Amino acid sequence: MEVIIRPTTQDAVNLTARLIADAINAKPQFKLGLATGATMEAVYADLVAMNKVGEVDFSRVTTFNLDEYIGLPPEDKNSYRYYMNYHLFNHINIDMRNTNLPNGMAEDEVAEGRRYEEAIRNCGGIDLQLLGIGSDGHIGFNEPISSLASRTRAKALTPATYVQNSVYFNPPESMPRRAFTMGVGTILDAKRIVMLITGSKKAGIAAQAIEGPVTSMVTGSALQLHPNAVVILDEGSASQLTQKDYYNWVFANEPEWARYR
Ligand code: F6R
Repeated sequence: MEVIIRPTTQDAVNLTARLIADAINAKPQFKLGLATGATMEAVYADLVAMNKVGEVDFSRVTTFNLDEYIGLPPEDKNSYRYYMNYHLFNHINIDMRNTNLPNGMAEDEVAEGRRYEEAIRNCGGIDLQLLGIGSDGHIGFNEPISSLASRTRAKALTPATYVQNSVYFNPPESMPRRAFTMGVGTILDAKRIVMLITGSKKAGIAAQAIEGPVTSMVTGSALQLHPNAVVILDEGSASQLTQKDYYNWVFANEPEWARYR
């Protein structure tokens, strides 16, 4: 795992977007795994801006989102399909037919999980998976004690996730209590993982995921098992890391990061 700490949130966001754009430019038929949530909005704004000036081309990109609320149709403003169209897909040159999310209205939940896994497999797997982390350490909606070998399935959301996300719902109680999510195993199959963590509120959970033990209690810690994972943080979210000097040395000196310094 590599850890990169940038001075500001915007620097962390910019680096994340540049890593994604460079990866797409190196392989136009890119399979991109996407996340939603507040952290990602600025990343998508960056990618939209880069697409507008021709710095990244989405015309042959296929996307797979991590998760979707169960019971919300695509046109619901709180669905992750709506979020993705609103923040990214409607503003870039992507073919909408190549954008994939679990179907929150699927009647057969087991079959929906299987369908999504097959769709990812049939595309040859995800080249780069973008991740945020929840206040309870979740990646996707893999809540504490999710199996580290789990695949796409329906998952009940924890009270911590309810507190984090119900603010977007009106009334808050209308937030679904369950969601489809790629499993931790699905996520770990991606060829590369880029996690973005910003804000001092995430400092404690960031330290647990990066430097704590690998545990299903903090599914973000499963990134420690991945051979090609990078976590990008701002100063606020990095404040409880114990090995900051080492991470900063690596970023300042390793040749692979020269073009991003
Ligand atoms: C959403 C997702 C979640 C979020 C996490 C952080 O697709 O996968 O794991 O990344 O809940 O959300 P924010 O950025 O709103 O703090």
